[in-house]
This record gives sequence, structure tokens and C-alpha cells, in this order.
Amino acid sequence: MNPALHARHRKQLMRMVGTGGIVILPASPQHIRNRDVEYPYRPDSDFMYLTGFPEPEAVVVLVPGRDKGEYILFCRDRDEEQEIWHGRRYGPEGALKYFAADDAFPIDDIDDILPGLMEHTERVYYTIGRDALFDKRVMGWVNTLRSQSRSGAHVPYEFVSLDFLLHDMRLYKSRDEVKLMKKAAQISCEAHKRAMRYCRPGVFEYQLDAEILHEFQKNGAGWAYPSIVGGGANACILHYRENNEALRDGELVLIDAGAEYDGYAADITRTFPVNGRFTEAQKEIVELTLEANLEAIKQVKPGNHWNDPHDTAVKVLTKGMVELGLLKGKVPQLIKDMAYKQYYMHRTGHWLGRDVHDVGDYKVDEQWRLLEPGMALTIEPGMYMGHTERKAKRWWDIGVRIEDDVVVTRDGCEVLTDGVPKSPSDIEALMNAR
Ligand code: GLY
Ligand code: MN
Ligand code: MN
Repeated sequence: MNPALHARHRKQLMRMVGTGGIVILPASPQHIRNRDVEYPYRPDSDFMYLTGFPEPEAVVVLVPGRDKGEYILFCRDRDEEQEIWHGRRYGPEGALKYFAADDAFPIDDIDDILPGLMEHTERVYYTIGRDALFDKRVMGWVNTLRSQSRSGAHVPYEFVSLDFLLHDMRLYKSRDEVKLMKKAAQISCEAHKRAMRYCRPGVFEYQLDAEILHEFQKNGAGWAYPSIVGGGANACILHYRENNEALRDGELVLIDAGAEYDGYAADITRTFPVNGRFTEAQKEIVELTLEANLEAIKQVKPGNHWNDPHDTAVKVLTKGMVELGLLKGKVPQLIKDMAYKQYYMHRTGHWLGRDVHDVGDYKVDEQWRLLEPGMALTIEPGMYMGHTERKAKRWWDIGVRIEDDVVVTRDGCEVLTDGVPKSPSDIEALMNAR
């Protein structure tokens, strides 16, 4: 819990909304996994960004300038029997005491209270279309007010998408948020190193997954997304999830895994040899991908635009593909024709924050967005060679991605994930250390 952080986010949002506005944001619903077993509950990132409140069936309402308090939280009431079976609840008293709400009410009373909170406002900041049932309730509250308009009730006349404001705010990470991202990154680096040390021929992909998860949980974190552990040809499946095969001598293994710590994600990929020593062909591809990674990172600085690191990675990779004989032709033409896509089919990164693919627009007015201090992103070039007769056998089943997390600073960027080796020599040194 980090009450001061959430308070700053609410304050900033309310400054943008201004008096006359009301923000309504429900926590995401719980989901059933099978029969009466629920998935572990994780509120959506917008809700956590503003409240830190961890329970389902909650709604945050912000009314800037409201005399009786601007921050109102609706949540489940305390319930002795429910709490014996299903765990403790904060209740409205806890929302006031631990989450700094100005006012808190049981969620069951929301239909009676919310129209009154809306009554003196003009603009409703709410994102329609995420939760159909909740959309209906919001419309119901507006209609309740409309039905009372002859007795003088004032009905808000404008709906504004909350995403628009909130997601732009979330794109710029404060110093405290970067601190949490560093912690998530540091735990993730240790997890990757643990997997590298544990790896040997015959180990199953899920066993490396377990090593990763052990390190996350040991440090009070969880995963930010299910880990990808792909040996050999599996590394060429970008979102490989089965993690159920044995790792073979002479092959590479690609691990894409990141921790979530106090709501903030890391997203790291490393590729290393199952037996601790790269073959020449594997080394060539890893070194080329590494060059693309390092050159792309150099492009992360204020004033450059979002696409600069990707353009650089594509240039480095295409040139290398020609030098290795994987492509034939002139580099500029091959780039124009996107010939590199047969080996490099994804983009070089995405925003990173509370969500692994974090919120925030990549273009503004049809132009790539300029990078600014506080923006956090991944740099993740890769090369995926698959298993086809079209290529020489030495390239078969080589899939490589090298993914780091970076934050734009005033004069460049800070790499959060250099606590785990990525060059062939450093990886071999770690894997063979006694
Ligand atoms: N782990 C998902 C990604 O790298 O985008
Ligand atoms: Mn990523
Ligand atoms: Mn990743």
C-alpha cells in the first residue's frame, strides 16, 4: 500500500477534471475459473492507480470541490460470516482509515447515493463500453435525476471518456513509480539469473518457469504476465504458453518473464544455451540481436519519437541479415520491402507500467509521439529462424529475443534491467561459474 502515491494521482486527476466534473470508476469484476473457484482477484490498473484499494465490488467517485469531501469510496460492508469463510474486508470504516477516503459507503447503497453526488455536476468522466452492466447502472443514475428534473434536480449534460485523461497521466511515471518499477525489474533480473543457473539438458520448460516464479514470490511479487519459457523451435512462437517440453542439449531457450511488484510490471527476455555454451551460429544471431538492442536503447531520449528505436533495430537487423546471408539485396530496399519481417515480425517495444502493455497513445495527431522524461518502455528486438528447408540447417530452431525495460530521463534513458547478463560471454560466465 502506498497511500501518498495514490493521493497524488487523485489530486492530479481532479485538477484536470475541475469543479463541475464527477469521476466514476468501478473496480473490475471477479471472474470464475471453474465451477466455484475464482481467479485470484487483481483489480484493474486504473482503479489501483487512483485508490490502492484491493477488494472487488468497489467504486471510486471523485467530485472536485465537493464540500463534504472529494474522494468517495463505495465498497463491500463488513460481514462476520463472509469474512470467516472468504477473508477480511476493509468495509467503509477501513476505506476511511487506511485509504484516506473522505467519505465511504457500502456498495449496496450506491443506487441511493450516487444520483445525489451527480446532481450538482455538469460533466461525467466515465469510460463507456468496458463493463456493460455497470454502463447500465450509470445510465440509470442519470435517468433517476432526469425523472426528478421537474422538482429542480440538475442533470449533467456531458459524458467525457475517463481513459483519455487517466491514460495520458499514467504514461508519465513519477519518481516513486519508477522506484517500484526498479524493484520489479531487480526481482525479475534475479529470477532470470536463477533460471540460467538451474538450466541443463533434460530440465523441462516448466521447471525453469517454477524457478522464475519461486524468485518472484520469495520477494513478495507475482508475475506481470504468464512466463514464456520456450526451448529450441518453441522460442519462435512469440506467445508460447505451454512450457511443457524438455530442454535439449545444443538448443537455446528463450525466457520472457517479468514480475509485478506493488502493482508495477517488469518485462524481460533473455535467450541462453541449454547446456551453457553457445554454438557459433547461435552466437551470431544473439550478437546481432544484442547490437540491435543496444543501438535501439541509444535512441531512447527526449526529442526522439516513439518509432526511432524500432527504425534503428530494423536497420541493424536487416544489415546483419544480409551479412549473414539470410537476406539478399540492398539494405534500404530490403527495409522498404519489409523483407526482415520473415525473421523479425514484431515491433521493438511498448509502453510499460502498471500493465505490461501499458496505456498511452503511441501517436498524437497522426504523428509518432515524442519521447519525454518519465515515459517507460521496453526495447525488445528479436530474430526467429524457425525450422524450414528454405534456410541452411545451422540456423534451424534459433529463436532469440533480448528485452530490456527503460525509462526516459532528461538527457537519455535509464535501463532498469541490466542486472541480468545479455551478451554471450556474460551469459556463459554466469552459467559456468562454480
Ligand atoms: N511479454 C510480452 C511482451 O514482451 O510484450
Ligand atoms: Mn514486452
Ligand atoms: Mn516480454
